[in-house]
Amino acid sequence: MAEGNLFAQRRDAFFQAMSARDPKAVAVISSAPVAIRNNDVEHDYRQDSDFYYLSGFEEPESVLVLQANGRKVTMFVRPRDAEREVWDGARAGVDGAVSAFGASQAFAIGELASKLPGLMEHAERLYYRVGRDRSFDEKVFSALESIRRTKGTRDNCPYEIVDPGSILHEMRLRKSDGEIECMRRAASITKEAHIAAMRAAKPGMFEYELEAILLETFRKRGSPRVAYGSIVGSGPNATTLHYTANTRKMLDGELVLIDAGCEVGFYASDVTRTFPVNGRFSKEQRAIYEIVLAAQLAGIDAVRVGSTNEHIHRAAVEAVTSGLVRIGLLSGSVTELIEKEKYKPFFMHGTAHWLGLDVHDVGRYKSAGAARPLQPGMVTTVEPGIYIAENCTTVAPEWRGIGVRIEDDVLVTEHGPDVLTRGVPKTVDEVESTCLAS
Ligand code: GLY
Ligand code: MN
Ligand code: MN
Repeated sequence: MAEGNLFAQRRDAFFQAMSARDPKAVAVISSAPVAIRNNDVEHDYRQDSDFYYLSGFEEPESVLVLQANGRKVTMFVRPRDAEREVWDGARAGVDGAVSAFGASQAFAIGELASKLPGLMEHAERLYYRVGRDRSFDEKVFSALESIRRTKGTRDNCPYEIVDPGSILHEMRLRKSDGEIECMRRAASITKEAHIAAMRAAKPGMFEYELEAILLETFRKRGSPRVAYGSIVGSGPNATTLHYTANTRKMLDGELVLIDAGCEVGFYASDVTRTFPVNGRFSKEQRAIYEIVLAAQLAGIDAVRVGSTNEHIHRAAVEAVTSGLVRIGLLSGSVTELIEKEKYKPFFMHGTAHWLGLDVHDVGRYKSAGAARPLQPGMVTTVEPGIYIAENCTTVAPEWRGIGVRIEDDVLVTEHGPDVLTRGVPKTVDEVESTCLAS
């Protein structure tokens, strides 16, 4: 029941925050919808992160209703069904929702329409995320309308609909020790996967062969799934930021960029490494790599309490810009080049994003219009890159088609940055010796 207590503690914290504005507030949070892949085949199911965070419940077609008044937890779930369970596996059912998941009461999902109005009335505020699932919106709106139209309850209909993210996403942004533990484990499996791919890569192999090695490591070490589609981009594909086809043959003398991570306990890792297919960086590849590495280390150094994501990005941009000036790909004053964003054709994305249950995790980056200060327990990526397109005519041909990104996951602590993904080879020497070890 240790797990159950964790989710109950989160619900308690959520209840407390809800009650502060309206002691009778109600929250309605639904599971992720099932997505059809083709014909009668579904995409692999993954629970919605908000729903999972508060319930620990992984089954689809489920709804969580939290009433601040009396801290009542109502769950709607798929009922037990011996015939369906033969096909799809066991269900917790209505009784299981109470006994194993801590609901105060539970009903079959088919009873949602008849029960929801009664659960929502009397609240001034309804916490519900409008627009995420249009067909579920319809159910909530119908329940609201039914309260408004019914004599005797119409005076008790919520006036305000508030995004539960205003509470929940702030909670999710600062990780507990247990959450950090999951993230360390995801990081450790991801480290092994990247090392295995570095060791295996050879000229003539296909990108998908490295993808297969990553997936094999993730699954063999117990991760249920990737945290996002793995990117294995060789040669010019490394300059396409969201390349996931992974179909190209990798050639001697090229770099390959792998951006891949897995989940543990629903928590993500997000790691990028770039390495030579043949194990040795060329002069130009190494020059670009060293600049990105310096930028990444400067970015990591900025992951400190009170600093901001903007500081992290600024540190990376300064290192990238001065590096590009040093090797002659940009010319002029570094300050001016930064002001005029001349680095952007080579480094066009941000440096940091929150990481947690979602790879691009929830939580605002700004507070009252200003970048929000980092606090202990937040986890951010640090991932600068330099991408020189194959058709970039502003640089000499030997630089073209080089793409490098280096990405780690970093926990903010009182004692400075804690790199959860440390140990994934990163210096030129570490990368080369890992690639050349078989
Ligand atoms: N893998 C997605 C990202 O780095 O943001
Ligand atoms: Mn990332
Ligand atoms: Mn990534």
